[in-house]
Amino acid sequence: MILDGKVQAHLSQAVHALARGELVGLPTETVYGLAADACNDDAARKIYSAKGRPADHPLIVHIADASQASHFARDIPDFAQALMARYWPGPLTLILHRQPAVAPVPSAAQDTIGLRSPSHPVAHALLQACAAQGIHGLAAPSANRFGRVSPTCARHVADEFGPDLLVLDGGDCPVGIESTIVDCTRGAPVVLRPGDIPRSDIETGSHWQPLGPEPSAPGTLKAHYAPHAKVRLMDAKSLQTALDVLGDDAPAMGVYARSRIHSSAKKLVLRSMPDDPRDVARELFACLRWFDKRGVRLIWIETPPDDASWEAVHDRLQRAAASA
Ligand code: TXA
Ligand code: MG
Repeated sequence: MILDGKVQAHLSQAVHALARGELVGLPTETVYGLAADACNDDAARKIYSAKGRPADHPLIVHIADASQASHFARDIPDFAQALMARYWPGPLTLILHRQPAVAPVPSAAQDTIGLRSPSHPVAHALLQACAAQGIHGLAAPSANRFGRVSPTCARHVADEFGPDLLVLDGGDCPVGIESTIVDCTRGAPVVLRPGDIPRSDIETGSHWQPLGPEPSAPGTLKAHYAPHAKVRLMDAKSLQTALDVLGDDAPAMGVYARSRIHSSAKKLVLRSMPDDPRDVARELFACLRWFDKRGVRLIWIETPPDDASWEAVHDRLQRAAASA
């Protein structure tokens, strides 16, 4: 992709900021990241303090392409190479054995490291420009304060970190939820965090046997993605019954449902959920922030269908509800 002059100017500004050890807001196809040079320990520490993130929660390192992987990872198994070839650039993070001397801060001193090559053209252009300056990768967690909703547009990042942070504006994130994370250190791929790439596509490859049960990913918490309002998940019937009980006097609250919901309550903020799980993923985090802006204290959300295609959305909703 050819980037226009303005984006190009911002890109070189971003490369210089990163080279100086500063943080940059980075658009990716999944969510916006808060990026630092992965090999600059002081810069990586700034990410933890800006986010308020515990130091034992490892960060994902973003690289331009698979050729940069061996700078950070060793003993990369064939099936991981196959996953890179098939899904990179794209919304897939691979957990690999770390090169011992590299990126101790982003990896939270684990002997593994999470690597991902994003497909967003601005992220890709920035990573290539960084590589040309000797910056091999960018550590970047989602650009939100610890435990809060991930940002899916540049405005969300400015809302989180204020106007002083340089944020590259790459528009709305086309995927909208974070990458699928796959542990590649156990002899076969194991999905640690569901995302846009379905679990079945990853775990039922022809080169390996599925493994179970899942190990835990440090930093994957039950409660996460919390808007300020309390989130509750309910099936359509319970949701309708509860609204009927509240009647006209329901407090200022949000409802996000696929089914047709009726209520005469004046303070109710109703938003319909799309039928396609990918459409829901794309708008979900912006939608939670939108409800917060409307000042509701409570968001009732219709539980998604019990189907594999909804796994990633269900995962994010459960974590948002667990924070309540
Ligand atoms: O789509 C995404 O993955 C976004 C964009 C910005 O790339 N990034 C993102 O980063 O979601 P973050 O920090 O919010 O989530 C990273 C998660 C950690 O919470 C942790 O569970 C897992 O990745 N992780 C990172 N390194 C790991 C490692 N070495 N072992 C196990 N899990 C790891
Ligand atoms: Mg996050």
